[in-house]
Amino acid sequence: MLLEAERGVLEQFVRSQVSSSISLVFLLTLLFISGIYSASFTISNNCPYTVWPGVLSGAGTEALSSTGFVLQKGESKTLSVPVGWSGRLWGRTLCSEDSTGKFSCVTGDCGSGKIECTGDGAAPPATLVEFTLNGAGGLDFYDVSLVDGYNLPMVIQPKDGSGGNCSVTGCLGDINKGCPSELKVTSVDSSGNVACKSACNAFGDAQYCCSGEYGNPNTCKPSSFSEFFKTACPRAYSYAYDDGTSTFTCANADYLITFCATSTSRKSGKNPKGEDGSSLNDAAMIFLGGSYASGASSSSLSKGGEMMILPKVQIILQWKLRG
Ligand SMILES: *[C@@H]1O[C@H](CO)[C@@H](O)[C@H](O)[C@H]1NC(C)=O
Repeated sequence: MLLEAERGVLEQFVRSQVSSSISLVFLLTLLFISGIYSASFTISNNCPYTVWPGVLSGAGTEALSSTGFVLQKGESKTLSVPVGWSGRLWGRTLCSEDSTGKFSCVTGDCGSGKIECTGDGAAPPATLVEFTLNGAGGLDFYDVSLVDGYNLPMVIQPKDGSGGNCSVTGCLGDINKGCPSELKVTSVDSSGNVACKSACNAFGDAQYCCSGEYGNPNTCKPSSFSEFFKTACPRAYSYAYDDGTSTFTCANADYLITFCATSTSRKSGKNPKGEDGSSLNDAAMIFLGGSYASGASSSSLSKGGEMMILPKVQIILQWKLRG
């Protein structure tokens, strides 16, 4: 039996616990409505030419603050990325505005007629970086894909992450140079190749596109064309079922995405975290972009804040379930 006084104290205690958990839930709801940022993408242009990145958010995930912008050579831009975001980024090249103000690009064009892609994806061929953040096991899944062909070198470097096989991936080399003649794309106003189609883009065969009876990993196998891409960029997807050597995972990371990253030798550079020794292009070289050496700053809305809030909520929820 509780005494009146004890009951009063207990009630007050329970009320204060409930109200603090309610205010925490309220705070979290607010944070979710306004978007919690879990990571940042720092996109850098190390190419000797201008690149217009495009961003496409997956169905059901929040859009990023920009869907397309310009990066002059040497420039970079950081975007905050909401929890659970999935989508892809790519680079558009040789872009211009016509006399009516319509914007278009020779490679990676998204067809919006503007610098912002506003929900439109890249016309192949284009190198793609793909992300699913906070997926299975709480891990971020990321890859560089040449399944839709190649237009310029792209590399993803996780920063301050842990877990999974959290390492640098991408494609350092200029595949346009060695592109087989059946696959190469040239531009009228530019000398040389501007992009390299995948065999699926070029020929549309089910066997290359892993569609129809080839729509599973047992029947869709690498081709001499996909092997050309795989040899040039061993860590990038060369065809649809190339997952084993091309998907990477990481937890609590920010990501640096670089166009035309430079490579330095392992001896002179600091190894990127989690580097497992396999190559991006060439066994002797690993990626370490000059701009990364100084360390790009992480987003202002850090994952730290979120990390501190979520465990508390879990504790309160457990307490409430038990109580
Ligand atoms: C990285 O880990 C994922 C998930 O465990 C796995 O599917 C993938 O094959 C691994 N990637 C590489 C390149 O080993």
